[in-house]
Amino acid sequence: MGAALRQDSALKHCTGEARFADDLPEPPGLLHAALALSPIAHGRLAPLDLAPARAMPGVVAVLGPRDMPGRNDISPSGKAAEVLFADLVVEHWGQPLAMVVARTRDEALAAAAALAPLIEPLPPVLDVAEALEAQSLLMPPMVMARGDWQAALDAAPLPLEGEFRCGGQEHFYLEGQIALAIPGEDGDMTLHSSTQHPTEVQHIAARVLGCDYNRLTVQCRRMGGGFGGKESNASWIAAAAALAAHATGQPVKLRLARKADMAATGKRHPFLFRWRAGCDASGRLLALDATLAADGGHSLDLSGGVLMRAVTHALNACDVPAVRITGLACKTNTVSNTAFRGFGGPQGVLLMEDVLHAAARATGRSVEALREHNFAGGPNGAETPYGQALEGDLIRRVWAEARTLSDWHGRRAEIDAFNASHPTLRRGLGSFVLAFGISFGIVAMNQAGALVHVYTDGSIRLNHGGTEMGQGLFIKVAQVVADVFGVDVGRIRITATSTDEVPNTSPTAASTGSDLNGWAAQIAASTIRTRMAAAAAALWGVPEADITFAEGRVTAGNHAMGFGELAQHCWNQRIGLSATGFYKTPDLHWDPVAMKGHPFFYFSYGASVAEVLVDRLTGEHRVLRADMVQDCGRSLNPAIDRGQIEGAFVQGMGWLTCEELWWDATGRLRTLGPSTYKIPGSRDVPPVFNVRMLEGAPARADTIFRSKAVGEPPLMLATAVWNALRDATGASRLDLPATPERVLAAFR
Ligand code: MTE
Ligand code: MOS
Repeated sequence: MGAALRQDSALKHCTGEARFADDLPEPPGLLHAALALSPIAHGRLAPLDLAPARAMPGVVAVLGPRDMPGRNDISPSGKAAEVLFADLVVEHWGQPLAMVVARTRDEALAAAAALAPLIEPLPPVLDVAEALEAQSLLMPPMVMARGDWQAALDAAPLPLEGEFRCGGQEHFYLEGQIALAIPGEDGDMTLHSSTQHPTEVQHIAARVLGCDYNRLTVQCRRMGGGFGGKESNASWIAAAAALAAHATGQPVKLRLARKADMAATGKRHPFLFRWRAGCDASGRLLALDATLAADGGHSLDLSGGVLMRAVTHALNACDVPAVRITGLACKTNTVSNTAFRGFGGPQGVLLMEDVLHAAARATGRSVEALREHNFAGGPNGAETPYGQALEGDLIRRVWAEARTLSDWHGRRAEIDAFNASHPTLRRGLGSFVLAFGISFGIVAMNQAGALVHVYTDGSIRLNHGGTEMGQGLFIKVAQVVADVFGVDVGRIRITATSTDEVPNTSPTAASTGSDLNGWAAQIAASTIRTRMAAAAAALWGVPEADITFAEGRVTAGNHAMGFGELAQHCWNQRIGLSATGFYKTPDLHWDPVAMKGHPFFYFSYGASVAEVLVDRLTGEHRVLRADMVQDCGRSLNPAIDRGQIEGAFVQGMGWLTCEELWWDATGRLRTLGPSTYKIPGSRDVPPVFNVRMLEGAPARADTIFRSKAVGEPPLMLATAVWNALRDATGASRLDLPATPERVLAAFR
């Protein structure tokens, strides 16, 4: 275990041999679909006249909100009213209104453009502050509280307050949203979908078609990136393709062009934060009352879960004895915001950074001194306000290692000297410490299944409910199975995720992919290994406990045979060589009303230090150096984990510095491609980039091979860049993304 193997398709990604949904051989009679999108952010929609599109060349079908055999409802929860195609009212610019199916993609796009919706405009609400003012909410407020926060606020010697904002983020997966629907016999259908959640694709397509789940098989071999953007959004794309295939009886592909993808699919939630706090003269925080207002866009989607994570992570690695955190999901006339790596956590953990900065200004101490002073665990309380304990020793360890790795003290002095002497350039140093809970916020979702077959030549076929989006899940789970059987990982055939092999799965999300599916596969493989061991023990007349599986061989004392030989022997003995595995995370409970419980299996800890260089005259800046320490337990695969840490940090940096979504006054999104929406490039990667996995991390016995999740937490380590920019500018408020414009303004 723990080998640094490359992602299973790494070479194929480079040569172009890896097949994504759009590379699958096209079935005969394939038709193409295109969406007609709303040109207006908010308004009353007259029933759409589909005739102009029907008259266009190559058009086979035009489908609107009233053309569904099932329901016009794509809500992930099944509880909110969320439509596939707008009916009577449009709620955001870019909202799907109808779909054209034609012989070619160009014909479909041309016909979709020929539709002329009649919309009587209504005033759009475009800003979260405006929605907050109007109390326009998608769900009831979420309140997490502990202690008499009001009395503690009133009594605190030093009162503090603040307000700031962070922006949204476009997922910018390399492969856009796509689905291919292939009708079969008796109304059966196969859906090839680029999705993190094949089971939800199955459910939502079945809801739109009005059919049983067992009619639909959803497959995904790999995605070209998901980042949360294909957790719920992939479902409606696939449901639309399924609807088109159902209506025409022919296979249909729906692939969104980048612009349509950016216009019609949800993004990370922008947040507005308002808070009041109090501390003593030493900077120890005594009370905090904060409102986290998320811009949910026009519909609920996954906003409840995103908000739950933001609220539970609002104190992050710090302790505040008396606290109230109020989370609000505001409704605006923008695209419905959704999951994005960290799922509300990245927004939530910003709060304490702002509070620590204010406390530092009030007390004259450094942010870092106050960070340590207010760490959870140890002499301060270890319990979060929702009742689960943090490991104070690990918080201190990751921070101590990051401080050493970055030579914090030496560089602090050097940077201060530089800033005192340079006329136009400013350097800044910032830190960050993270405690991120691992598990889905909905307890029921923390389950997984796997299916393992051993063939009589000793080769193994592995299937599980997790999806591969680039993060290396498939190789990690294959490593687990190879370890159980003591064979080379090359003996394991990795196969596409499919609802007909492993049913009723959770999305691959919340960084739980390898924890959940690794265990399920381990359990399936162990079931088979136990049977094989019994067969070998009987054959050799030795106790089962003496049988070992290693290096492709099965041995006991002087007895030995190849793994494949034993598989063949088992077949001869009529022993089953196939098994399912099922896993559920133990010890989870959560009361969503009281906001109390034990929602996370464990916490992932990390710490970082970043240095920036800023031009005072232009506000332009770059990250010169980043040092980070991430607790991965005993890494399942250090090569994959390192890639995840580096990639997540840079993606977080992009969100905090250069990626800016911009809507004009009419609510039209104007950042619709790489020319207007700037994601970090290779030259934005810090030239000094020190990534460490916490050495000798305490290994828990109950995680898969004592590893810890890595997919999302390191994104938040980029928060150190925000703090470095605040350090360089000395600004008391710096909204995010900290673009050059905002940084320049911060100097003034
Ligand atoms: N890494 C790559 N290369 N591509 C992705 O789309 N998604 C991230 C993260 N790392 C992503 C990625 C997100 S949002 C999550 S939740 C985790 O991977 C999911 O995978 P895991 O649970 O297997 O870590
Ligand atoms: Mo990741 S946002 O949980 O898909």
